[in-house]
Amino acid sequence: SGSAHISELPMEILIRLFRYLGPEDLCRCGQVCTAWWGLVKTGSLWRHLYPVRWARGDFYSGPPGYLDQEPDEEWVKNLQDEGRAYQEWDEDADVDESGEQCEEADNPAINTVQREKRLLNGMIQNLLPAVGPSVRTIVLAYSSAVSSKMVRQILSLCPNLTHLDLTQTDVTDSAFDSWASLGVCSSLEHLDLSGCEKITDHTLKRLSLGLGDLTSPLSSRNSPEWRTKLLMGPPPPLKLEVGPALLAGGRSRQAMIFKRRPGVRGSSCSPAHVFVFDLEEPADIEDVAEWSRHGGIPVPDTSTAGVLEVQTAGGSSCCCRRGRRQGLSTGSGSAAYWQQRYLSFGEAQCGHSACCGGETALRTFKGAEFDLQATGGSAHLRTKLLPEGQSPNNRTEHSGTFRSLRFLSLSGCYHVTDMGLRSLSQRGGLPRVEHLNLSGCPFVSEVGLQELVSVCPALNDEHFYYCDNINGPHADTASGCQNLQCGFRVCCRSGE
Ligand code: FES
Repeated sequence: SGSAHISELPMEILIRLFRYLGPEDLCRCGQVCTAWWGLVKTGSLWRHLYPVRWARGDFYSGPPGYLDQEPDEEWVKNLQDEGRAYQEWDEDADVDESGEQCEEADNPAINTVQREKRLLNGMIQNLLPAVGPSVRTIVLAYSSAVSSKMVRQILSLCPNLTHLDLTQTDVTDSAFDSWASLGVCSSLEHLDLSGCEKITDHTLKRLSLGLGDLTSPLSSRNSPEWRTKLLMGPPPPLKLEVGPALLAGGRSRQAMIFKRRPGVRGSSCSPAHVFVFDLEEPADIEDVAEWSRHGGIPVPDTSTAGVLEVQTAGGSSCCCRRGRRQGLSTGSGSAAYWQQRYLSFGEAQCGHSACCGGETALRTFKGAEFDLQATGGSAHLRTKLLPEGQSPNNRTEHSGTFRSLRFLSLSGCYHVTDMGLRSLSQRGGLPRVEHLNLSGCPFVSEVGLQELVSVCPALNDEHFYYCDNINGPHADTASGCQNLQCGFRVCCRSGE
């Protein structure tokens, strides 16, 4: 009946409201106060990043679906004109030690690229360190401002990317240094390097390493899940109590309560309690997935979802300030699901309800009913990571799965040779690739193509492009070179 000030709204409600905002408005909200800045840095608000479009006033931030089509020619031409103007100006501009131009240009095209560059630097310095692991999509196609160093920083901060578009950028092999680590880009499904003329076989070698090794008997141990598990260490013992749980607002309800045993690792986080509630409460499945990623907790099956709430008895020091994050969940096949999870908030960046919330219950969310999977009072600590949108029903299929690449375009990457293709062919090939564009790669041969195609069982010939001068595999059914009419991408027949 009474009214409430917006500052009294629970954080989950505020985040839900923030979800209706675009990146520009989110950034404005982040300037309101420290608390809102902490909320704005919630990873689920920043899944899909389009800095090139954002710098030009298009604040779309949804999934990349509609961008799968080729952008319209006029838009591309404008970007290319801006890029040329910027490059000419940049050669004469003063550059200070931080690499920032001191001069402002009068030309609107140059100002647009400058704005894009500032936006990219701001993202790298202020946003991605907080939300990078949640980012799934980055589209930098036709960017004149992005450099190899920027891409390298972005890829290091965003290890769970599924969609990366660097079409027609000036990046070099050094941009992909972080991919040399095994499994670091294993979630990548869409990689567009069309027109990246400086890319060589080194990048493909790094990509192949980063995608993981399907032939290794230890392949599942190279997965992000396994690496996370190694970092997390063994699970802390818990004990279960059943009793009245005090909810936010002073309500109480019968619930299951988990307490970490005193004197064990992570006990500074305790006494954090986990309460299991009924099924009717509203919940936010996206944030469950988000926290699942942070803490390694499987996304619950919504058909059996219950609602959980985390409450802290307060007073403990923040474990996260020591860089420790922990999560709890049941094992697979469980009849129930529960979780103690965090919310990134303020400078502490811990997101632990237990650390940040004092006496206040911070969070409600859905989870499957739970099954302790506990013996002797201890529960399993899971570090399972599921991609966005994946249900636990196909979790087994995904467990330990790498090389999820479905789309790969190297169109116009004319330095690529058979050696690069061989790198991709090794370690299990590209079992999920459906779209493979090698147009404008005249230095690959029939042999290299054959070797790669032989390990791409899902390849759709309609989306298989390579030089018309090569008598390669699937010659009758594959599509030809796509660059014949392109005009700005390498093709051995351009000008004919
Ligand atoms: Fe040979 Fe285009 S690269 S036909």
